[in-house]
Amino acid sequence: MSVFEHVELAPADPILGLTEAFKADERTSKVNLGIGVYLDDQGRIPLMECVRAEEDRLAAAAKPHVYLGIDGFPEYVRLARELVFGPGSPAVAEKRIATVQSLGGTGALKVGADFIATLAPGATVLVSDPSWENHRAIFARTGFNVGTYRYYDAASRSLDIDGMVADLEAAGPGSVVVLHACCHNPTGYDLTPDQWDRVIQVIADRALIPFLDMAYQGFGTGVAEDGAVISRFVAAGLPLFVSTSFSKSFGLYGERIGALHIVCQDEQEARRVLSQVKICIRTNYSNPSTHGAAIVAGVLGDPAQRASWERELDQMRNRIKQMRARLVEGLRATGIEDMDFIAQQAGMFSYSGLSRDQMLALRREHGIYGTEKGRMCVAALNEANLETVVKAIAAVRQ
Ligand code: LMR
Repeated sequence: MSVFEHVELAPADPILGLTEAFKADERTSKVNLGIGVYLDDQGRIPLMECVRAEEDRLAAAAKPHVYLGIDGFPEYVRLARELVFGPGSPAVAEKRIATVQSLGGTGALKVGADFIATLAPGATVLVSDPSWENHRAIFARTGFNVGTYRYYDAASRSLDIDGMVADLEAAGPGSVVVLHACCHNPTGYDLTPDQWDRVIQVIADRALIPFLDMAYQGFGTGVAEDGAVISRFVAAGLPLFVSTSFSKSFGLYGERIGALHIVCQDEQEARRVLSQVKICIRTNYSNPSTHGAAIVAGVLGDPAQRASWERELDQMRNRIKQMRARLVEGLRATGIEDMDFIAQQAGMFSYSGLSRDQMLALRREHGIYGTEKGRMCVAALNEANLETVVKAIAAVRQ
């Protein structure tokens, strides 16, 4: 008898499982709008110029592959923190942010969850309804009781800010609130500055613990603009967790390069927090890998390279906006006039409003892959696949 006899077959991952199914699909007209990956107008993941240049420099330097410290590549840690909290951030100057390099944004969330579990095991964690599927999974798997707060109102296709604030007001003190700093995944609807102020106020009043996830910095309005919300939380004097990622903004998906930042009251506290977070890392994967961190540090640390990165990121963001407009235009040409909202959403995703059945029909009958909840990655659209996608949406809406 096998010890694995009773192991059940798990369902495919709601997002990564789509890529597996897409790869197995033999239709040449297939389009993967499932995973959040930026593709250029040729349908390829771009190798950004700044990344290529930095890789050349690293290859020429031919350094040995030493271990990194538990918290990561020091220059990377410093520069990633400055990018997220902005130049001149008082919290950075006061050295009260504990930052560790992480395995992508997911790794930052998981290390953060592990650390919170040492402080408040079994606490309640609230995620937006809807949210990135892995938010719930990460926190539930770490032993938290995961609930939701209202976020998106499907009927009006807009943000339900009153519902959100009411649900946070009803949350118990010490509950962790996971928020999307920008480019909400999956809906593409973000809070306005005034709405953020309302949310920050209720978080402060109810003594909740905010955990901001910022995987798409630069894809909303711009690097500084998207990051501005972080400073609002810092200015409110709240304890704060921030998970960030360079997967999307540097096109470094496979390098798994992100960071976890924990804003503390003072330098002493940050030192103690960092020492505990390092234990979470050491007992999990020991220390992170170098290559992605060295690339990001090299680019962010060189003014010309950094400017080149921001220029290319601007182009990526603008291309997505163009594709949103082209999609709306194409749908209108087929007589679909109630999907203009796609052009108002921010980031890589569009919450299409299509039903589960329609999304499954898109996949089955047309080889167009999006999530069952109706999320489509518009960053994967281009002039060559647009018409296929438009026609397929029109067909399943009939
Ligand atoms: C997504 O939401 O598609 C991305 O963040 C990729 C992932 O890991 O799910």
